[in-house]
Amino acid sequence: MSRIKITVVGAGNVGATVAQEIVRANYADVVVVDIKEGLAEGKALDINSAGSVLGYEPRLIGLDGYEGTEGSDIVVITAGVPRTGDMSRDDLVTTNEGIVSSVTREAVERSPDATLIVVSNPLDAMCHVAKDASGWPRERVFGMAGILDTARFRTFIAWETGASAQDVQALVLGGHGDQMVPIVSATTVGGVPLPKLVSDQRIKALVERTRKGGGEVVQLLGTSAWYAPGAAVAEIVHAVALDQKRVLPCTAHLEGEFGIEGLFMGVPVKLGAGGIEEIVELDLSDEERSELGRSAEAVREVVGVLAGSH
Ligand code: APR
Repeated sequence: MSRIKITVVGAGNVGATVAQEIVRANYADVVVVDIKEGLAEGKALDINSAGSVLGYEPRLIGLDGYEGTEGSDIVVITAGVPRTGDMSRDDLVTTNEGIVSSVTREAVERSPDATLIVVSNPLDAMCHVAKDASGWPRERVFGMAGILDTARFRTFIAWETGASAQDVQALVLGGHGDQMVPIVSATTVGGVPLPKLVSDQRIKALVERTRKGGGEVVQLLGTSAWYAPGAAVAEIVHAVALDQKRVLPCTAHLEGEFGIEGLFMGVPVKLGAGGIEEIVELDLSDEERSELGRSAEAVREVVGVLAGSH
């Protein structure tokens, strides 16, 4: 039986973190590709060299082209330019459209049966670009955003309540922008609904901090985050590669679910070997539903900026 093969396109901060998380799990051969000569190879050498210390096999290959990515089971796309301090996520749209479109074509040509996981921003719009460039069904083309946004929300709730972050269950849906929708009605700490533990006013503050969570990191670092995004992507990769049937928020192409048609948005999905095996619908409060509608409008606006037809 051959090992699972995973390609990560982009060996920058997010791509290298994803690659390291996956090789550490020890079940896959991982290839990382970057356009910048020597970058992927150098990062691979460094990450491989940590293996004997940390207990994983040095099976990461770094390339500056796509020869060697053939037959991948999963392709993760992190190529692009990151958002810098003076840039909104949406300012990235035109540059990253060109990059995501070309790398998708290169990757899918060599790995026609793969599942594509998009990470490049603006995420929801880049999912449309990857879906168009690949021509693949929505089960096999989707994006990572909700796990990251939810992880930030869970962290802030853990700090607020003093509870373990592991006991905080939460859900953040909608587009990956300031209009994202933290679903307070589905948020619990050890099974106890959040409003039982935290005042409405503090919940509003936590929701606000979550919405601006990416921007807060950019303000501090001058570039966008990578540790939490890398970990979130790895969770998706494991779920698909190991057929785990995890139910996690991902950016999926909605075809009527949640009352939204023809748009990529963050919703709960079941992930397994078939990629998105189910879109899980849940009851939302009236307010949450209308916030989701507003988030969809914001995503449609960015999608409208794409040069490709939508
Ligand atoms: N082919 C392959 N790699 C490319 C291409 C291309 N056509 N164009 C750019 N890259 C590479 C860059 O050389 C760089 O190494 O993509 C990498 C991006 O890495 P970083 O600049 O470190 O950005 P990173 O922080 O990893 O973020 C990548 O993910 O979270 C999103 O907003 C973020 O869109 C950004 C992406």
